[in-house]
Amino acid sequence: MKIAIASDHGAFELKQKIIKYLIRKKNIEVLDFGTDDENISVDYADYAGKVAKQIMNKNVEKGILLCGTGIGISIAANKYKGIRAALCHNTYTARMSSLHNDANILVFGGRITGIEIAKEMVNVWLSTKYESGRHQRRINKIHKIEK
Ligand code: RB5
Repeated sequence: MKIAIASDHGAFELKQKIIKYLIRKKNIEVLDFGTDDENISVDYADYAGKVAKQIMNKNVEKGILLCGTGIGISIAANKYKGIRAALCHNTYTARMSSLHNDANILVFGGRITGIEIAKEMVNVWLSTKYESGRHQRRINKIHKIEK
C-alpha cells in the first residue's frame, strides 16, 4: 500500500513521526508532499491539494493530512471531487470514518492530537472496511452534490 501525506507548519513534527511509523512499523510506502520546515509559515490549502490530487489521479488510494487543528486542511481537501476527508480526534471517529464514510483521507491536528492516539487512529482507519449498503446511497448523494 502507498499513502500520500502532507501538512502545514502547524503539524510538521507530528507528520514526521507518523511517516516514520508508517514506514518502519507498518511497512507502508509513503509519498511526503511537505511541508519540510516547521519554521516557515505556509498555507494549508496548498498542501490539501497535493494529496487530494494524488487520490484523484489514482496514484494512491488513501492520504493523510494535518494542520494545526486539522480544520482548515479538511475543509480545503473536501473541495476536491471524490475526496472524503475526515477530521478525527479519537479511534471511534477514525473507525466510523472508514466504516460509514469510506474516508479516503484521514485528517488530524498537530496541535490537538498526540502521537500515540494518532498512531491508533491510523491503524483503525486503515484496518476498518467500508460497510457500503445504506452508506453507499448516502455517498452517492454526495457525488450528486459534487456534480
Ligand atoms: C496555522 O497557524 C493554522 O491556522 C492551521 O494550521 C490550521 O490550524 C487551520 O485550520
